[in-house]
Amino acid sequence: MVAPPDADLFAAAPPEVSVYEVSPRDGLQNEPIIVPLEGKLQLIQALADAGIKRIEATSFVSPKWVPQLADAGELISELLGPPGSPPGPIVYTALVPNARGGERAIDGRTDEFNLVMSASATHNLANLRMTQAQSVRTLAEVIAQAQQARVAVNVSLSCAFGCPMEGEVPGAEVLAWVQRFVDLGVTNVTLCDTTGMADPGLVARRVGAAVARFPQVAFTAHFHDTRGLAGANTYAALQAGVTRFDASLGGIGGCPYAPGASGNVATEDLVHLLQCLGLDCGLTVEGLAPATKHLRTLLGHDLPAAVGRAGPRWQRHAPPADFEQIRERALARDATG
Ligand code: COA
Ligand code: ZN
Repeated sequence: MVAPPDADLFAAAPPEVSVYEVSPRDGLQNEPIIVPLEGKLQLIQALADAGIKRIEATSFVSPKWVPQLADAGELISELLGPPGSPPGPIVYTALVPNARGGERAIDGRTDEFNLVMSASATHNLANLRMTQAQSVRTLAEVIAQAQQARVAVNVSLSCAFGCPMEGEVPGAEVLAWVQRFVDLGVTNVTLCDTTGMADPGLVARRVGAAVARFPQVAFTAHFHDTRGLAGANTYAALQAGVTRFDASLGGIGGCPYAPGASGNVATEDLVHLLQCLGLDCGLTVEGLAPATKHLRTLLGHDLPAAVGRAGPRWQRHAPPADFEQIRERALARDATG
């Protein structure tokens, strides 16, 4: 069930939208349990079966800081096969914070490195234990590693819409960080609302400015639904010209080193919104349902995704069992006048 494209939203032809799945990384890093390798592989298989084409599978960070993803190397080898294997239909990306992570990721032949630093100096220190200048230097090294190994690079800027510790993060600073990476040859950048501090007005201004200033960059928006604004923010980002969105199955996720961080926008909720707007992303709410069910079993708890609980708006429910009596009684009222 797909609505006709929203003519007011898209003056030209409606865009195709890409949904990038991050639950195996952003989701599982924030779960209290450590999901075993086999469980992670089953989750990724369920996502692939639903039609997802790009998956952030893990992160090559210090296992001391994120023990949930300590098996990154084994996971990537299982997914991509031995050296020399032909590329598969799915792009597997992994988060990389430093050169040690880059080396580990190259060993596992990751399809894409997702380099991370924060637009907030405080969050960068809390999360990565580096100053921002140290992060840029260290990521410049990783970019060189990736270029040499012919691995694609994306840069994710955390706290691009605000920081839970510092508060506002100025738009000019966010653009300046993007510029630093553009100067290093990066053409893919994700603007992350790590703790759900964005609102649609801020997204319109900030993302609009980024898209206008860097037409050569493919921007992805990464929203968390911490305060229920992820859908509205997605709409604002679409209007600003963004067509790539990160999402996490079930709405799990959050940064362990950002106070108050909670779930990413749920893939089910994002896909539902896109279907309502008549935008094609190659996925459907119904197609995701088996993966959602699998994830719930894997984690052993309910998931925050709204559509996972309520079903899509086109799902129909039977009227009350005594509906005919209600109708007859109501009509009889007219007859008796
Ligand atoms: N992979 C595996 N081990 C790593 C590593 C990596 N990418 N980077 C560092 N290490 C190891 C070091 O070898 C060292 O090990 P040792 O104690 O056995 O000698 C230890 O971790 C500390 O190394 P150091 O360089 O001092 O790092 P740090 O303690 O200052 O931490 C980071 C820096 C970036 C590694 C760490 O803060 C981190 O992994 N952060 C990521 C947090 C995250 O993923 N947040 C959510 C996603 S946004
Ligand atoms: Zn996130």
